Amino acid sequence: MPLMPKVGIIGGTGFDNPDILKNRKEKKVTTPFGNPSDVLVLGEINGVQTILLSRHGRKHDIMPGNVNYRANIWALKEEGCTHIIATAAVGSLQENYKPGELVLVDNFIDRTTNRKQTFYDGEPGHPIGVCHIPVEPAYCLKTRELILKTAEELKVSLIPTGTVITIEGPRYSSKAESNVFRSWGGHIIGMTQVPEVVLAKEAGICYASVALVTDYDCWRESGEKVCVAEVMKTFSENVSKVSKFVLSIVTKIGQEKWDDTVKELQDVVNGAIMLPK
Ligand code: ADE
Repeated sequence: MPLMPKVGIIGGTGFDNPDILKNRKEKKVTTPFGNPSDVLVLGEINGVQTILLSRHGRKHDIMPGNVNYRANIWALKEEGCTHIIATAAVGSLQENYKPGELVLVDNFIDRTTNRKQTFYDGEPGHPIGVCHIPVEPAYCLKTRELILKTAEELKVSLIPTGTVITIEGPRYSSKAESNVFRSWGGHIIGMTQVPEVVLAKEAGICYASVALVTDYDCWRESGEKVCVAEVMKTFSENVSKVSKFVLSIVTKIGQEKWDDTVKELQDVVNGAIMLPK
């Protein structure tokens, strides 16, 4: 029997509307790492089992540094998710990553300072060993290819690659910081990709992230500097486009075979764990 894919959608700011799921039911779960950001909303999209989780909680009261990323990923893994499609609002660090554009993230630079990045931390009740997980490629190649193909078919404009700088937040960057991040080759900037992508990798889940550019951060000499009002305005203008796109991505995931991809990811995890002597 081929593996039936199950997709977790981690909805970032503004992208967590449960109406996209049919036959919804809520499930409250806990994990060895504590509670996820909110209930899991279980349902289906065109026959594909799907679980929606709001990254910041449905009341949007959890700031990026306080999101329990480990509990979120663990909970989705426990429920049998083979895939996670993450959405996020991000700032732009390059002129050609324009507000309103979607970006299929393919790499990250970690500027977080205070987040747990592994399940294998030696604490009681947590998985045993030390895990040196490789993060190249950080994002699932096959899922990214599928998303690119979906965008082509639907004529959704999608920037195919982008390196995201993940800052600790919750403040935005200074202009000097923003310019340093540009000089490092960052294309976009956000507060949530790390450690989410890293933990998904440790969990052996096919993870991909579709980011909506909401602003030009603060590096440009003229024009608006990033502020909450601008971020909210851009995403409210684009939220239905993102939702429709995610629906099509999930549908397509349901039409593919994933046995080999999931096994390869699991092999990477198994090879990364050093058990105690
Ligand atoms: N999310 C949206 N815009 C952002 C920015 N400019 N910096 C960090 N996170 C963001």
